[in-house]
Amino acid sequence: MTQKSTNTVWHHAAVSRQDRERLHNHKSAVLWFTGLSGSGKSTLAHAVEDRLHKLGISTFVLDGDNVRHGLCSDLGFTDADRVENIRRISEVAKLLSEAGVITLTAFISPFREDRNAARKLMPHGDFLEIYCQCPLETCEQRDVKGLYKKARAGEIPFFTGIDSPYEEPERPELIVKTGENSLDECVDGVIQLMARRNIVN
Ligand code: PPS
Repeated sequence: MTQKSTNTVWHHAAVSRQDRERLHNHKSAVLWFTGLSGSGKSTLAHAVEDRLHKLGISTFVLDGDNVRHGLCSDLGFTDADRVENIRRISEVAKLLSEAGVITLTAFISPFREDRNAARKLMPHGDFLEIYCQCPLETCEQRDVKGLYKKARAGEIPFFTGIDSPYEEPERPELIVKTGENSLDECVDGVIQLMARRNIVN
């Protein structure tokens, strides 16, 4: 993407990320949930948020379907649009983590390169890639939104896993088997990862 904002000068904030983390009494982090449509990303991200919120932790979920109603409503599902979608989300996640918030993102984010670019934006080792691993057949059987049926009927072009690719993470911080394990077990797995990283106690 071309950098169009010229003649701009970075303004350093008087209040730092560390100041905000102290105020919140916890570190900030980005929990990046990735996986096929219907793999349970949103359900898991919201359930983790609920658990964290009850522990008094400041959180925010950026969810694919929701963000595409506003910030990214101009984007579709071509490869180029998905790249731009994830670029914008990565920047928003960075802003939220600067604000001292634990950000949970739930996007298919099908391309490894884009997820790696998001990771690079968070230089403090606070980026946790969480792969919601669920076989395509299971996602398609569940078909909660009826989208796979439409995609198979040719009514939705570029559908992930059907006629648009999903590149599995190579070294995610965590793999949650959302097709096999209960929601509670998956949430436990994420919270344990956060404890190992000293993000929560
Ligand atoms: S991406 O690939 O990260 O830019 O996608 P994302 O922003 O997460 O949006 C995925 C949700 O959009 C709906 N939807 C589609 N998904 C995949 N492919 C196509 N063509 C498509 N069209 C609409 C679908 O509800 C996705 O939600 P989830 O929660 O993943 O099922």
